[in-house]
Amino acid sequence: MLGSQSADPARRKSLHGHWSSKMAFVLAVTGSAVGLGNIWRFPYVVGENGGGAFVLVYLACVLLIGMPVMMSEILIGRRGRRNPVASMALLGEEEGSTRHWKWIGVLGVVAGILILSYYSVVAGWTLAYVVKSVSGAFTAASTDMVTAQYDSFVGDWRLLALCHTLFMGLAVFVVGRGVERGLEQAVRFMVPALLLLLLVLLGYSVTSGSFGEGLTFMFSPVWEDLTWDGVLAAMGQAFFTLSIGMGAIMAYGAYLPEETSIPGASGTVVVADTMIAMLAGLVIFPLVFASGLEGILEAGPGLVFKILPWALGQMPGGAFFSTIFFILLSFAAWTSAIGLMEPAVAWVVEHFNKTRAQATAMIGGLIWLLGFASVFSYNLLADFKPFGRTIFDNLGRLTNDIMLPLGGLFIAVFAGWVMCRNSSADELGGAGLIYKLWRVLVRFVVPVGILIVFLKSSGLLPDLG
Ligand code: PFF
Repeated sequence: MLGSQSADPARRKSLHGHWSSKMAFVLAVTGSAVGLGNIWRFPYVVGENGGGAFVLVYLACVLLIGMPVMMSEILIGRRGRRNPVASMALLGEEEGSTRHWKWIGVLGVVAGILILSYYSVVAGWTLAYVVKSVSGAFTAASTDMVTAQYDSFVGDWRLLALCHTLFMGLAVFVVGRGVERGLEQAVRFMVPALLLLLLVLLGYSVTSGSFGEGLTFMFSPVWEDLTWDGVLAAMGQAFFTLSIGMGAIMAYGAYLPEETSIPGASGTVVVADTMIAMLAGLVIFPLVFASGLEGILEAGPGLVFKILPWALGQMPGGAFFSTIFFILLSFAAWTSAIGLMEPAVAWVVEHFNKTRAQATAMIGGLIWLLGFASVFSYNLLADFKPFGRTIFDNLGRLTNDIMLPLGGLFIAVFAGWVMCRNSSADELGGAGLIYKLWRVLVRFVVPVGILIVFLKSSGLLPDLG
């Protein structure tokens, strides 16, 4: 029973099993971090927000906010050893505050469900693009042709619904089987393969793309082009790409053995994730400039689905590479979807006393239904734009740019201010330099940084002078 969990955090056990090794944990967290966020979303938000300045703010957010929040999530998860809702409640009480901290866990469960509802739709696109690649649909296709293919594809709601259903089926299948089985092997193969393929594509974009132009766009900052809204988007992207702010990493941390170094594991994941996003940018932007398409930088969610098939279609063996690319991207999305469901599933298992299979079916079914709002955003409801955006875009904005940073803010405040020094130092392996640095970041830099970005982007904090 849950009530009989040990009062000694070091002796608490997770109800869902443990990772077989430190490597398994790092792989699972990397699998959750590396996904559509790196390869599909990163290039298009960089494009929409003007390039270099956005990338630098994003990198600063990853380092100064993302890394300490990730460490906080892992340490809270490992100390609580339960689903994020229960861990926050338990530790809130144990640290002399209140059980109401559980609401941060609830916020995360809701965020995960909402994110996966649209994530699965895009993941469905990657499945469809595997089939299109195999059939040679992009071979020697012009930019107009790939654009037309994309437009007619997303315009067909039945097809999108089918792909979304297929992807959710795959996700439910793995989550229903438990955290370890299958996932480890999938990630162990997927991340290195993705890295390798991106390097091959980088070779192509260096030789055939407008590499200098792409590089300049990505790294030389034009600060006047960056609005506070862009800064908010950069911060939201940092949260999204690292899978933090919603308890996913906390849920994974609950299965982490006592002796694993949290800073070491976090550092590995952050470096791998950032490297893959940078590589994706270095592949896409030179090709964007080589395509000669005016305005494609602001193409939004369609960017990668237009540029890559076109570029690969021009390349010898392109159909093969594009097939492999979309297969790997589907894998990456799959291992991320698991992280998105895990907080909700673990919570339903523990709270409602369901089996893992039942919980997964319930949560999966709910997400599948919600996904139709995103499916219809591209066709039947394309003109329905509350707040000036489609439902799909509103969901991205609400979850990535608002819910995740808000969750991260409270997680940092909890780890930095509510938990006592002994507890956090105990989990982070003593009170050395890394610990001190982490504590300054979670107590001051993270909360103040997130608040300033929130206030500035909403116009509540006027410019001084
Ligand atoms: N980090 C994933 C990506 O970049 O695609 C998205 C994600 C996965 C966010 C899992 C949150 C999460 F819990």
